[in-house]
Amino acid sequence: MKNYLKLDEWLIIEDGFHPEYQEISESIFSIGNGHMGQRANFEEDYSGPSLQGSYLAGVYYPDKTQVGWWKNGYPEYFAKVINSTNWIGIHVKIDGVVLDLATCPVNNFKRVLNMREGYLSRTFVATLPSGVEVKVEALRFVSMTRPEIGAIRYRITPLNREAVVTLTPYLDGDVMNRDSNHGEKFWEEVNRTNQMDSATLTMKTKKLDFYVTTATAVELLMDNAPIILEPVLVDKDHTVTLFKYAASATSRDHAVEDLVSQSEKRVQEAKAMGFDQLLSEQREAWKNKWNDSDIVITGDVAAQQGIRFNIFQLNQTYTGDDERLNIGPKGFTGEKYGGSTYWDTEAYCLPFYLSTSAQEIARNLLIYRYRHLEKAKENASKLGFKRGALYPMVTMNGEECHNEWEITFEEIHRNGAIAYAIYNYVNYTGDAEYLGEYGFEVLVEISRFWAERVNYSQSKNKYVILGVTGPNEYENNVNNNWYTNRMASWTMEYTLEVMRNLQESHPQRLHELVEKLGIESSETKKWQDIIANMYYPMDQEAGLFLQQDGFLDKVIIPATAINPSEVPINQHWSWDRILRSCYIKQADVLQGLFFLGDRYDLETKRRNFDFYEPLTVHESSLSPCVHSILACELGYRDKAYELYLRTSRLDLNDYNNDTEDGCHITSMAGTWMSVVYGFGGFRVQEGRVHLTPFLMAHWESYSFKLMFRGARINVIVKKDTVTIHNETSVEVPLTLYHQNYQLKANESLTVETTSARMIG
Ligand code: BGC
Repeated sequence: MKNYLKLDEWLIIEDGFHPEYQEISESIFSIGNGHMGQRANFEEDYSGPSLQGSYLAGVYYPDKTQVGWWKNGYPEYFAKVINSTNWIGIHVKIDGVVLDLATCPVNNFKRVLNMREGYLSRTFVATLPSGVEVKVEALRFVSMTRPEIGAIRYRITPLNREAVVTLTPYLDGDVMNRDSNHGEKFWEEVNRTNQMDSATLTMKTKKLDFYVTTATAVELLMDNAPIILEPVLVDKDHTVTLFKYAASATSRDHAVEDLVSQSEKRVQEAKAMGFDQLLSEQREAWKNKWNDSDIVITGDVAAQQGIRFNIFQLNQTYTGDDERLNIGPKGFTGEKYGGSTYWDTEAYCLPFYLSTSAQEIARNLLIYRYRHLEKAKENASKLGFKRGALYPMVTMNGEECHNEWEITFEEIHRNGAIAYAIYNYVNYTGDAEYLGEYGFEVLVEISRFWAERVNYSQSKNKYVILGVTGPNEYENNVNNNWYTNRMASWTMEYTLEVMRNLQESHPQRLHELVEKLGIESSETKKWQDIIANMYYPMDQEAGLFLQQDGFLDKVIIPATAINPSEVPINQHWSWDRILRSCYIKQADVLQGLFFLGDRYDLETKRRNFDFYEPLTVHESSLSPCVHSILACELGYRDKAYELYLRTSRLDLNDYNNDTEDGCHITSMAGTWMSVVYGFGGFRVQEGRVHLTPFLMAHWESYSFKLMFRGARINVIVKKDTVTIHNETSVEVPLTLYHQNYQLKANESLTVETTSARMIG
């Protein structure tokens, strides 16, 4: 755990240069706008350790798979979002010497991520070998309103004497991925143009033919007067300012032959508008984002900074206006996980976008999987299934990219999360039309997969699911993972329920779908039989759902007994030792109790939480949030808070010692849930907003916003009162502490809280 960043409500601050943490800072201070993003690399040259990263959403490369022992069914490629043209670069020389913070004393260094206004800034004073001291002030952002545009203002002021300053802004397409499987470069140059104050560079991926043109335009000022770009003598205390604008246009959005003209046009527009105007647009755009999604916590700066950092990164990663895109676990902050889509989106991210953005944005996340249905069917067929769809564990275009048998073939619970997301979306929005249009087809194909994946065990007289990996990846190839079995039968139940509802509301559409999908009554009967006779491993006496058949054969010792010098265990123990241990990477049984929370009583949740949480090492970023939510429900407030801090400050404090690879973007939506679903007790049931909020004793208050079926409410929780304000003209059916209300247009409801209520 690291503590080198300063606490602040709206800013992330590195005060004083920490070169030993440079790659961590590069992840944390990343910026993005849904279309593109980049790590917080320096504009000037830097010869210290650094992971260069500039990414364009949806521009990926099928990197040839590398495995030790090939298994039939493995995919040939791992599609990864790739490092692309570096547009931020500026070679800086002072009196002919390269400015490089790895080679000279640096003072007054301050790097700031301004989350309120959406930009990254950096100031420092460097002393060059000649003795000249220069102050540098750099500020950059990628525009939220003009997704292809990025802008930099880079200022240099000699402090103790005059200096000759040479600035050479450049575009560099000769970039690599550190995780390239075969040390290969993914890009080739197509074309470049170069003028005194502008340039374009067109690159093409060696496979799949993604074309990207980056256009740049620059402007140089001495104090406030424009000058031309060549070495300039700058007097002491005078400032030379370089503005660098860039536009990155891709063949995903433009015809290849238009890329140069389109990117030039956009960059010249940006330059004509000027940096200040672009920045004020940026501030306005972020103001609106915060108006929809901010969570305010008073009385606890660490908690406040943590949650804002999570919300900021989520808004930077996915804006939802392009249904071809999804949310990579590292967003635009690193290479790990290849920028691909995981079950994280459905299991963790969807609720954030449902509650903080327009409905279409969450819908687009679902449509993304609908578009991949044929590929998911191909995937199942490739593995030997006659029917049904197995969605990939990791994907870019619907094809499986992952190639570790225990995950690729066994972590099939991901199918359950995709079905659950459809339920979650429809339950939240009331958009039942979605089911007839898209959702039902996905549900049927997933149910078909489950129906074929189970087998009937004669000895148990039940249906079983053998050879799986549950969400807890620290056990592989287990039989009857409770969570997987539960989600499988739940999917079939829900599919049948949707079928009944469609029969009532849209019989004609159902008829068409039954024809199209070839559903026969023998098939639905089989699903009913599986639902009625699914096997769930249990310890009846202790009232526990067992993570898998053999879980109780393990030596059960709480995780607190692990020597602290050996955590995270995945960085210290052999894989064999981990697999045999009782330690759990992330919520597994408890994930099921969270998803299907309305079907289990508090005592069942408590027994299972009390047993599993102490065995959980939370070494997946996705872990603490679910536990924190359940701990809130159970009234374990200190535990909830401990886990909340762990999830919300996971990257800021580098809890899992891996932030240098990139930030844990998908778990950030889990952090949001741990406030809203955890402390706020938010659920949607039967078209009503349910809330049972409580306040941590050391917090003064907190508030959050929820968009719900065309309305937006602001929930403000204080020591003695809860106020809910309807900010719109749409009425909201609300259940607060189990009492029903109808919150009228622009109406506020305040209730006094008693300690009994505060436990919910
Ligand atoms: C987790 C998975 C998750 C993946 C990407 C892994 O460490 O165990 O559940 O999908 O990370 O976030």
